Amino acid sequence: LTGAITYDPGYKNSGACKSAITFLDGEEGILRYRGYSIEDLAENSNFLEVSYLIIFGELPTQEELEKFENDIRKYSLVNEEMKNIIDGFPKTAHPMGVLASLTSALTAFNPKVVDADCKKDLYEAVCKTMSKFLVIATWTYRKAKGYPLNYYDNTKSYVDNFLRLMFALPTSPYEIDPVVKNAIDKLFILHADHEQNCSTSTVRMVGSSHAGLFASISAGVSALWGPLHGGANQAVLEMLEAIQNDGGDVDKYLAKAKDKDDSFRLMGFGHRVYKNFDPRARIIKKAADEVLGKLGVDDPVLEIAKKLEEAALKDPYFVERHLYPNVDFYSGIIYRALGIPTEMFTVMFAIGRLPGWIAQWKEMRINKEPIGRPRQLYIGEELRSFVPMKDRK
Ligand code: SDX
Repeated sequence: LTGAITYDPGYKNSGACKSAITFLDGEEGILRYRGYSIEDLAENSNFLEVSYLIIFGELPTQEELEKFENDIRKYSLVNEEMKNIIDGFPKTAHPMGVLASLTSALTAFNPKVVDADCKKDLYEAVCKTMSKFLVIATWTYRKAKGYPLNYYDNTKSYVDNFLRLMFALPTSPYEIDPVVKNAIDKLFILHADHEQNCSTSTVRMVGSSHAGLFASISAGVSALWGPLHGGANQAVLEMLEAIQNDGGDVDKYLAKAKDKDDSFRLMGFGHRVYKNFDPRARIIKKAADEVLGKLGVDDPVLEIAKKLEEAALKDPYFVERHLYPNVDFYSGIIYRALGIPTEMFTVMFAIGRLPGWIAQWKEMRINKEPIGRPRQLYIGEELRSFVPMKDRK
């Protein structure tokens, strides 16, 4: 299998794992979920169907999809006492920090853990996580805005629920804009899984000790928060706004990114695996033009982003280092056009990545992967004798 990880006897300690969920080819810019190309899925599928595919391995029949949607609804009510926890946070708390805490807290109200053989309660844990995580993720926004916390509506679809949970207010009816819904569906699909990235590896590592699914995903949320990972989508918008406020001088910021004495990096550029282009960035860039056009949004930072990309792709520093726009470069521009505040961008990434985290955790447990235990290259002191305090200098 091209791209399959070669296994030496030491694979148990190497941190490498076997996975059948997502295939990446960094040179060719290929991304497939369970063998289906991201382009095909982004064009023809929807987020819940792709979630089913990623988690269970096959595209669902209509009956299977309806059953999954209904089983998710069975567990959509979040314990009311969870509100005591979110009320303990200041409104200024970053939503990702609140989400990591709330996700871990779900264990307190849903203590049943998946049995060691993953026979009995795995499906229930999957469905429970899909709905409860979505609800608490939107609560982080509602809390910051001072809005009442909404409940999942079991008569509505998964993505419709996301929009209502986020934006519906008791003071007036909430109508779902199909342009917004389609954009959200596509963005969630594009974020749904990505092989062994930092946050997914964290979920697998924590889960490998047989810690519960909520605890493992909470750790993944924390890893995703970092600006070098999922936090980049927020950092990209902050960077583009800084360039806009600085007269739109992209060359000045390219020079800063190349200056080794300057810690500034071009956020949304570069990737550990993709070395020619990130296929998701291509789809999102095209969607940005479409969505902003349909919504009649004229956001100057989109033009700045395109100008920055064009200048960087001509610059030897970026070309030699294979630095191209990644999934985070254009996504925030669409989120902003959809009315989502910058500090919620990484929570959007987490909602999209949830099925991938669940699927990877499930695969690791079903395959009875050994507890994660990478080794190290020791570069410290050789053996030496204890020095009494009186002789220390
Ligand atoms: C995600 O792994 C995944 O799949 C992640 C993800 C997913 O779906 O889960 O795809 C999501 O995290 C995308 C990446 C989002 N992060 C950013 O956009 C932050 C900015 N990018 C970088 O910090 C960086 O490119 C990384 C972290 C993404 C990748 O880092 P690498 O591969 O470890 O690259 P590196 O740090 O070793 O840098 C190699 C060279 C260095 O220069 P030299 O020392 O060779 O002179 O490239 C330079 C770096 O200074 N470089 C950059 C740069 N990224 C790397 N220079 C300027 N701007 C940048 N963005």
